[in-house]
Amino acid sequence: MKEKIKLLKFNFQEEMKAVTKKEEVERIRVNYLGKKGFVTEIFNEMKKLNTDNKKEIGRELNVFKNNIERTVDEYNKMFEEKDLEEALKNTEKYDFSIISPVTEGTLHPITIVQRQVEEIFKTMGFIIEDGLEIQTEFDNFEAVNTPKNHPARDMQDTYYLENGQLLRTQTSAAQNYIMRKYGAPKKGDTLKVLLPGRCFRNENIDACHENTFFQMEGMMIGEDISIANLIYFMKLLLSEVFKKEVKVRLRPGYFPFVEPGFELDINCLICGGKGCPTCKHSGWLELLPCGMIHPNVLRMGGIDPEHYTGFAFGLGLTRLAMMKYEIKDIRIFNSGNLRILRQFGDR
Ligand code: DAH
Repeated sequence: MKEKIKLLKFNFQEEMKAVTKKEEVERIRVNYLGKKGFVTEIFNEMKKLNTDNKKEIGRELNVFKNNIERTVDEYNKMFEEKDLEEALKNTEKYDFSIISPVTEGTLHPITIVQRQVEEIFKTMGFIIEDGLEIQTEFDNFEAVNTPKNHPARDMQDTYYLENGQLLRTQTSAAQNYIMRKYGAPKKGDTLKVLLPGRCFRNENIDACHENTFFQMEGMMIGEDISIANLIYFMKLLLSEVFKKEVKVRLRPGYFPFVEPGFELDINCLICGGKGCPTCKHSGWLELLPCGMIHPNVLRMGGIDPEHYTGFAFGLGLTRLAMMKYEIKDIRIFNSGNLRILRQFGDR
């Protein structure tokens, strides 16, 4: 039996040396270790031997069996690597030294206008803050003086999450957080903040309504802030953005978080005031609702309305971009249509 094993070992090595294909490895493995393989056969024969011999032969056979398994594994691995190398050889080749023309992107028109407004306000000492897009009902409504069942909520239907939070309908939702974060300004100082961001409302989408749009909230709080300060900043903003005289009108407007509140409209730049779908044929476009911050809002933000006053405004950034670039249809902004969006170009 020992002789037989010796011969098998020799044969196995010779057979493996001659292998050229993966399939041959498997065939050899089955020949030796399969149910009717040479090694299996000897294992069966061995059962007839006396105990001493059994042990010795058994040990030797096991070593041989392990050796076959290891060798087969090594060969298989070798063939797999070869296959991979072949596959790589046949793939496309890249020449990384060739410089391909890169098409550079451009900023979105809303981003361009947003940055422009931020620059203007930064030079006037405003800080730029980020509000959250997902808000609590408290921050979006209650904290800005719009309690449950207030009729003003009707105009701001939005998307609610299962946990009761909502997608903010207005950047005003960050007012309370900002007041708490910075607190009342020191004597002689003012708190001036700009809050640009994406807002959401459940709207029927058409040329001038979107369910996702951008606003920019502004706030200035101090000891002697008046409507005169408000009008000064609003005028400055518009003349800087449009770089030309724009006709504006100020009329009373109602917003729960300001008292008094105003609507600052600009003459529609798309139709020149004649009337078009964008301005709902009125010749005017609501662009800058604003007012003096309601005492309740200050109080809820932890600022004493007996000592401090402030103004706030909610600039429609999307509207502003429509006016600046004479874009007639609001749907373009979220369309992802690069052929159109690329035209606004500057970076
Ligand atoms: N949050 C208001 C809206 O989306 C806009 C607004 C109006 C903001 C007056 C203000 C404000 O800060 O003073 O309709």
